[in-house]
Amino acid sequence: MGSYLLSILAIGATLPCVVARQQFTFGTNWQAQFHSLSSPVNVASKGPPSGEDEDRIPIRIDNRCEDTIWPGIFTQAGTGPGTGGFELVPGNKTELWVSPDWQGRIWGRTNCTVDGDRASCDTGECGKLDCESSGVPPATLAEFTLAGGENNMQTFYDVSLVDGYNIPIAVNHIPSKNTSFIPPNLTNLACIATAGWLYESNATSTVYANTSYPVPWEMDESNDSVSSWCPWPYLKFPPAKPGHGVFPYPDDNIERPAFSPCNSACAASGKDKDCCAGKYNDPKVCKPSRYSKTAKDVCPDAYSFAYDDQQSTFIIPKGGGWEVVMCPKGRSTTILRQLGDVMFGLADSGELSDEALARLQNTTFINMEKGAGSGLTVELTWLVLTVLLVVSLSV
Ligand SMILES: *[C@@H]1O[C@H](CO)[C@@H](O)[C@H](O)[C@H]1NC(C)=O
Ligand SMILES: *[C@@H]1O[C@H](CO)[C@@H](O)[C@H](O)[C@H]1NC(C)=O
Ligand SMILES: *[C@@H]1O[C@H](CO)[C@@H](O)[C@H](O)[C@H]1NC(C)=O
Ligand SMILES: *[C@@H]1O[C@H](CO)[C@@H](O)[C@H](O)[C@H]1NC(C)=O
Ligand SMILES: *[C@@H]1O[C@H](CO)[C@@H](O)[C@H](O)[C@H]1NC(C)=O
Ligand SMILES: *[C@@H]1O[C@H](CO)[C@@H](O)[C@H](O)[C@H]1NC(C)=O
Ligand SMILES: *[C@@H]1O[C@H](CO)[C@@H](O)[C@H](O)[C@H]1NC(C)=O
Ligand SMILES: *[C@@H]1O[C@H](CO)[C@@H](O)[C@H](O)[C@H]1NC(C)=O
Repeated sequence: MGSYLLSILAIGATLPCVVARQQFTFGTNWQAQFHSLSSPVNVASKGPPSGEDEDRIPIRIDNRCEDTIWPGIFTQAGTGPGTGGFELVPGNKTELWVSPDWQGRIWGRTNCTVDGDRASCDTGECGKLDCESSGVPPATLAEFTLAGGENNMQTFYDVSLVDGYNIPIAVNHIPSKNTSFIPPNLTNLACIATAGWLYESNATSTVYANTSYPVPWEMDESNDSVSSWCPWPYLKFPPAKPGHGVFPYPDDNIERPAFSPCNSACAASGKDKDCCAGKYNDPKVCKPSRYSKTAKDVCPDAYSFAYDDQQSTFIIPKGGGWEVVMCPKGRSTTILRQLGDVMFGLADSGELSDEALARLQNTTFINMEKGAGSGLTVELTWLVLTVLLVVSLSV
């Protein structure tokens, strides 16, 4: 039961379902905001929504894993797709529909044993085949607030490792008439931290977009490094230690299976310090743990802990639909570090300026920004950009 509670807290940590300009306010307490929003005002219904295509939003789930995946879908607000989960065989896709104000999360359950309407799974389990709650960590999450921000005109979305990581996930925008001007290389993110699923290192690639829209990629990881990023104590299924109790084998050198689910520090310890709760519920006090740092290295565009929002939330004008890919191959994207200010400008104004377009086409700029890494410099750069942006917007 404890883990259900944790995952509910984690949704709060990772769904910035509030006013647009507030994404520029660092250190907003998203958890508290979320809880105040999950009042009875936000009624969630199972769905699916009725009506014409303009009145509903497509959500596609695509299984590119070699194994069957049982997607889980949890609707927090709005009208859900009519299902909370089902079996998806390798290579298959399902198209679902939700209401334009839907808010919810999608994750992949692995190695489930289904018995009637019950399902018990290695990861992401919710108890039932058709989930009525969120899943037990660890699970990589794709989270959406389709109508958020000022006047509810923006879609907020993210991939979150706040609940841990089980499989690679990518999120692709499905353009609608009024969002087709947004280049897919600003919207389509991936988080891949599983050995065997990584392509050769390349600064950009068109794998998640089309041949004319290269997406910036993380450049530093290898199959080896992603097979050992999870701190040993957080492994959900730690391999047996050959020298257990006899030889002092360094745990990190023991080979791990490719699919090796990783609890987050918060999910593993439940401590205030790791969950940014209690006296740690303050961005100045709650610092990234070792888990969050390695998670951010392998998946720069994903949430790694509760106060990670300035480099983890995607925001674009609303209208389009979404595809969630389970086990994409490629590399993790690093869109927010490199192009985040362009994207936030777009979210705020609803259009791309000539300057923004020029920047998107300037590979010198993009290459200079790459590898900007984590840490203070980047945060300060962000802060400066942000302040400039806020100032320029308010005059
Ligand atoms: C693949 O998905 C389609 C559409 O959701 C479904 O009708 C079909 O039964 C699925 N195929 C398998 C083998 O499960
Ligand atoms: C499912 O379990 C098998 C056997 O333990 C394992 O090889 C496989 O990687 C697991 N699949 C996933 C997606 O975790
Ligand atoms: C990772 O392993 C896969 C499968 O063995 C291989 O195709 C790929 O090239 C490797 N990636 C890197 C970056 O070495
Ligand atoms: C890496 O980028 C180069 C230049 O854009 C491209 O020709 C090559 O196909 C890319 N390799 C991969 C593995 O995407
Ligand atoms: C790539 O995607 C953009 C935006 O969705 C579209 O306008 C363009 O026609 C596509 N290009 C190709 C070659 O498919
Ligand atoms: C795009 O069009 C949809 C459907 O007509 C509408 O609901 C939505 O508000 C529009 N988005 C924007 C940003 O104007
Ligand atoms: C995004 O796509 C545009 C249009 O093809 C391209 O000029 C630009 O370099 C791409 N941006 C990145 C970061 O790859
Ligand atoms: C591209 O970006 C670099 C680095 O910011 C800058 O020096 C250069 O002037 C830009 N080029 C264009 C054509 O804007």
